[in-house]
Amino acid sequence: MRLALLADIHGNIHALQAVAARLEQLQPDAVIVVGDLINAVPFSSQVVDFIRETDWIVLRGNHEFYYLDFVGGRAPDDWHDPMRWGQLHWLAEHLRPDQGAYLAALPDDLTLFYPHTEPVRLAHGAPGNHRMGFMPDMPAERIAAALAGVEQATFINAHTHQQIDRIITQPAPAVEETGDPAFYFENGQPHAPRTWHVINPGSVGLPLNGDPRAQFAIVESVSPAAIPGGWRVSHHRVEYDRRPALEAYHASGMLAQGGVISELFYWELVTARWEIPYFFMWRREHLPQDGVSFEDAFRAYKEATGREAFVRERDPLRRQRR
Ligand SMILES: [Fe+2]
Ligand SMILES: [Fe+2]
Repeated sequence: MRLALLADIHGNIHALQAVAARLEQLQPDAVIVVGDLINAVPFSSQVVDFIRETDWIVLRGNHEFYYLDFVGGRAPDDWHDPMRWGQLHWLAEHLRPDQGAYLAALPDDLTLFYPHTEPVRLAHGAPGNHRMGFMPDMPAERIAAALAGVEQATFINAHTHQQIDRIITQPAPAVEETGDPAFYFENGQPHAPRTWHVINPGSVGLPLNGDPRAQFAIVESVSPAAIPGGWRVSHHRVEYDRRPALEAYHASGMLAQGGVISELFYWELVTARWEIPYFFMWRREHLPQDGVSFEDAFRAYKEATGREAFVRERDPLRRQRR
């Protein structure tokens, strides 16, 4: 049994089409989308329509919640600030109510029990926390702590836009605690140290691992004796043309309405690096919390760091114009 894992599409229809074409060749038995279908790239509506036409299994991510909370009246008051949240306002205006109803009913957590395979648990982030992601170099203890309630030996998530294939072992307590390093005690009962196979397929539409190609994974059922948890991963990266997506930031009005955040998403699509978190970190470090507008802060960031020139140098549209 072979499953295709797609995640973090983020409204990038061109990247999704490139991956779908590759899936036509690979012919997996099932396709699972691990959340964040929408937001960031200007084709969220097209992505939702595309996926609804398929028989794919779909989970919800935190970007679905940005949208659902905003249009559903559950967002904090400051989300109505157009300078800070214009990107989300643009998105809210460009998804239809029937698409919202579809997103409203997606599951956040899923376990697959296909015949003659080991069970697989999936969530966009950590179980119960769609905004907690795992980084490739995150200490195993932190991941093990987040997975303490996961009974299944294979855990698939997304959110960090990084391809991950790691065996995580819950460290055994020190010998003096238990008298035996191979066991620890829980509710008075001894347990062997637990392991999880942690898999992240990477991001289809907005990779942040330095490689702008559309990324996904195939997992194949194998003997648990060969691989703990019984699933072997192969990560894939597909070349596609980013220029139509980059052009659409201007043409769709997203950049005009979404301001700083839309521009930073554009930068992320160009560089395949974290741009939004770096701006927020710089702002926290160098500017007072109050009194400097979001736009002025971004202007100061550009002047201080020269990041805009770094992005422009790598922009496929810029290269085209030369
Ligand atoms: Fe995401
Ligand atoms: Fe996410």
